[in-house]
Amino acid sequence: MRSHYCGHVTADLLDKEVTLAGWVHRRRDHGGVIFIDLRDREGIVQVVVAPENAALFASAESMRSEFVVQVTGMVRRRPQGTVNSNLRTGDIEVAANSLTILNRSQPLPFPIDEYHEVGEETRLHYRYLDIRRPEMLERLKFRSSIVRYMRRYLDERGFIDVETPFLTRATPEGARDYLVPSRVHPGSFYALPQSPQQFKQLLMMSGLDRYYQIVRCFRDEDLRADRQPEFTQLDIETSFLNENEIQAIMEEMMRGLFSSLLNVELPTPFPRMTYAEAINRYGSDKPDLRIPMELVDVGDLLKDVEFKVFADPANDPHGRVAALRVPEGASLSRKEIDDYTKFVGQFGARGLAYIKINAEGKEGLQSPILKFIPEKAIEEIVKRTKANVGDVIFFGADKATVVNESLGALRNKMGHDRGLIQAGWRILWVVDFPMFEKGEGRLSACHHPFTAPQCDSIAELMEAPETMQARAYDMVLNGSELGGGSIRIHSSEMQKAVFGILNINAEEAEEKFGHLLTAMKLGCPPHGGIAFGLDRIAMLMTGAASIREVIAFPKTQTATCPLMDAPATVEPAQLIELGIRVVAKKEEKLLNSY
Ligand code: AMO
Ligand code: AMP
Repeated sequence: MRSHYCGHVTADLLDKEVTLAGWVHRRRDHGGVIFIDLRDREGIVQVVVAPENAALFASAESMRSEFVVQVTGMVRRRPQGTVNSNLRTGDIEVAANSLTILNRSQPLPFPIDEYHEVGEETRLHYRYLDIRRPEMLERLKFRSSIVRYMRRYLDERGFIDVETPFLTRATPEGARDYLVPSRVHPGSFYALPQSPQQFKQLLMMSGLDRYYQIVRCFRDEDLRADRQPEFTQLDIETSFLNENEIQAIMEEMMRGLFSSLLNVELPTPFPRMTYAEAINRYGSDKPDLRIPMELVDVGDLLKDVEFKVFADPANDPHGRVAALRVPEGASLSRKEIDDYTKFVGQFGARGLAYIKINAEGKEGLQSPILKFIPEKAIEEIVKRTKANVGDVIFFGADKATVVNESLGALRNKMGHDRGLIQAGWRILWVVDFPMFEKGEGRLSACHHPFTAPQCDSIAELMEAPETMQARAYDMVLNGSELGGGSIRIHSSEMQKAVFGILNINAEEAEEKFGHLLTAMKLGCPPHGGIAFGLDRIAMLMTGAASIREVIAFPKTQTATCPLMDAPATVEPAQLIELGIRVVAKKEEKLLNSY
C-alpha cells in the first residue's frame, strides 16, 4: 500500500513518485491550495493538493484530522521561504496526484497534533490515541532499542533465553501475590510470579550456566511513580561466578547501553558504597548522588542537653540525631517549613527542628530550639554541617530508622524543590546489605530468602543473624534502584538455617520450598544473579516522569486499566465453576470478627 514511510521522504527522492499511507495530522486550506500534514510512525510529510484536479481537490477538502489516507504524488522541493528545518522532511513536499480515504475518523476526544493537558484517566482510556502522540511513540521505540541492546549483549556472551511459568506457586519478594483460581482443583490457586527467582536458580541446577529472560513480574503492592502491579524485569542468573564477576558483566552492559543509545559514558568501574554508608550519609539505600546534601550525625553533641527531643535519641543506641544543611534554605518561609514538617511526618518524624543562618554570628541565627541548646553545641553543629550564611539546618531526632527515612526523603524533596539536583548520571553499586531486617518483632529477608550470607558456616550465621551481611548488591542510578541481585545459597543446610531464622519451620519449608531444598542436594552449583527493572531503566533513559510513560498499557495508581475496564466482576457461572464465593463487605467484617 505504500512505497515509503512519511517520515522518510527527503530530498533524496526528488522528482520521484511515492505512495504514502498514514493519518491526516493537520489539514490547512491556503487560498485555493490544500496542505495535508500526513503522519505515520516515522514522522510527518507535507502533501500539497492543487485546485486544478477538481475531484482530487474535493477529496482533500473532505478530509479531517485523523482520517487514514493513501496518497500518491511527486516529491518536489518546497518553494523558497517555506522550508521547515525542524522537520526531517522539511525541504520537500509531495504534490498529490491521487488520494484515497482508507478510513474516516470522528473528532478525537483530545488533539494529537498539539500539546494539550489531558487527564491521565482519559489518556489511559484512549491509550491507542495517546500512543499516536510522537513523544509516546518515541518512548516505546526507545524502550524497544534498550531491549534489543540487552538481548544482543547477553546472546553474545552465551546467556540462554528461557521462559518460565506464570501459573506457579508463590515466590516471596516482599509483596502480596496475585492469585489465579484453578478450575480443575477447586479451592487451589496458582500465584503469578513476583519474579522467576526459584525457576532461574533451578535452571542453574540443570546446568544452563547462564540464563536470561525479559519477563513480566506481578506484585500486588502499593503503587508509586516507579512501581506497577505488573512490570518487566531483565532477569539474569549465572553459575560459577562471584559477585565481582557478575557485577563486571552487568556494568559493561549498562555502559554499552548508555553509550550507544544516549552517548553517555558511565564510569569504569561503577563506584561501590556499603549499605551502612548509604544509610548514614543519605538516609537511603538508593542514594541520589546528584543532590549535594548529606545527613550529618550530631547526637554526640546533644547527649547532655535539656531538650529531651534531642537528648533521648542521642542517648538511645537505636536512636539518631542528624542534621541536614540546605544551601540557601534560610529564605524558606514559615509556611514552607510547616509543609516540610508535615512531609516528614509521613515518615514518622514528630517534628522538624531547624536553625536558619540569616547572618554571621550568634545574633544571625533564627530557630525555635536555640534556647534549649548550649551555644558551643550550636557552633559545632554549624561547623560540622559546613553551614554558611543563607543556609538552613534541619534536624531529625528519633529512632534511627525514622530519622533516616524522614531526612532521606526530605533530602530528595529539597533537592527537587530547590533546584539543587546536579546534571548527569550518578550510578553506583550499593553492597553489604544486611541479611535480615527487623519488622514486627521478627526478622524478614532484606533481599529474599535465597540470598547467601557473607559467611560459610551455619554456626557463624546463627551466632548473630541480625548483624550478618548478605552477598547482595543493588545497582542505583540517580536515586532509583535499577536492579538488585545476590549470590545465592547453594547448600540445603544453609537454606534451611535461613528459613529457620525467618520463622519458616521445617514442615512449612518442606511444604513450600521442598523442590528447591531437594534440588540443592542433587548437584547444585554455586550461583548468583540479578534482575533489572526494565521499565525503570526506560523511564530514566527517556527522562519520563513515571514508568507509566514507558509502558504501552499501564495500570493507574489504583491498579485499574481504564481502557479494558479491568479488573471486572465475572459471571456467577464462572465463579461456581471455580468453586469461589465472593464475600460481600458486610460478611467480610463478620469473618474478621471470628
Ligand atoms: P527485586 O525485587 O529487587 O529483585 O526486583 C528487581 C528490580 O525490579 C524492579 N521492580 C519494579 N519495577 C516496577 N514496578 C515494581 N513493582 C517493581 N518491583 C521491582 C526494580 C528492582 O530493582 N528476584 C530478584 C532479583 C535477583 O535476586 O536476581 C528480584 O526480583 O528495578
Ligand atoms: P516542641 O518543643 O515540640 O515545640 O519542638 C520544638 C522544635 O523541635 C519544633 O521546631 C519541632 O518541629 C521540632 N521537633 C520536635 N520533635 C522533633 C523530632 N523528633 N525531630 C526533629 N525535630 C523535632
